[in-house]
Amino acid sequence: MKVLICKSHDAAVERTANMIAAHVRGRSAPVLGLATGGTMLPLYERLAKLHRETDLSFADCSTFNLDEYVGIAPDHPASYHSYMREALFRHVDIDLRRTHLPRGDADDVHVEAESFEARIDAAGGISLQLLGIGQNGHIGFNEPTSSLGSRTRIKTLTESTRTANRQYFGPDETAPRYALTMGVGTILNARECLMLATGSSKAAAVAAMIEGPVSAVCPASALQLHARATVVLDRDAAAGLRLTDYYQHVHPNGEATRFD
Ligand code: PGA
Repeated sequence: MKVLICKSHDAAVERTANMIAAHVRGRSAPVLGLATGGTMLPLYERLAKLHRETDLSFADCSTFNLDEYVGIAPDHPASYHSYMREALFRHVDIDLRRTHLPRGDADDVHVEAESFEARIDAAGGISLQLLGIGQNGHIGFNEPTSSLGSRTRIKTLTESTRTANRQYFGPDETAPRYALTMGVGTILNARECLMLATGSSKAAAVAAMIEGPVSAVCPASALQLHARATVVLDRDAAAGLRLTDYYQHVHPNGEATRFD
């Protein structure tokens, strides 16, 4: 696992955006796995800026999002469909017909989960999977004890995840109890994984993911099994790591080396 510890929050966001931009520029038909959540908002802002101000084009990209709430329609303001439209899609030149999120309002969520996996396969698999991490170590909505071989399916959210996401729902609404999420196995199939984690609230989960055992109790630790996983951190998110000197020695301030 490549661990990049950047000097500041902004530097971590910029580093991640530049890696995504390089990936997109370097391929004729990139297939991006996308994530949602507060951490990703400044990242998508930065990508939109790169699109506006440089030659970065998303016209040839396909995208697959990690997850969506069950029972929430795409036009609900707290849906991840809405999040993606507002945070990224409407600001760039992406072809919306090539953007995919699981439909949480599908009549049969099991059929929807299977069809989502089939659509990823039909696109040739995900070339770069962007990830955040939950305070409990989840990736996507793969909550602790998720099978490390799991595929897209329905998951029951933990109370801590529901509490973290309650802010996005109205005072009279109940935060969803279930989500459709890519599985840990689906994520591990991506040819490259790129995680962005910032802030001290993520420090314990980040330490468990990078330096703890590979365990379903911390689903993000499955990234230790991936041959091409990069984790971009600010100093606050890196604060729980024991081997910081080594990571800084390999990639000072998260910068690239001549072997990258
Ligand atoms: P956050 O969510 O960016 O809102 O902290 C990350 C996650 O739960 O994966």
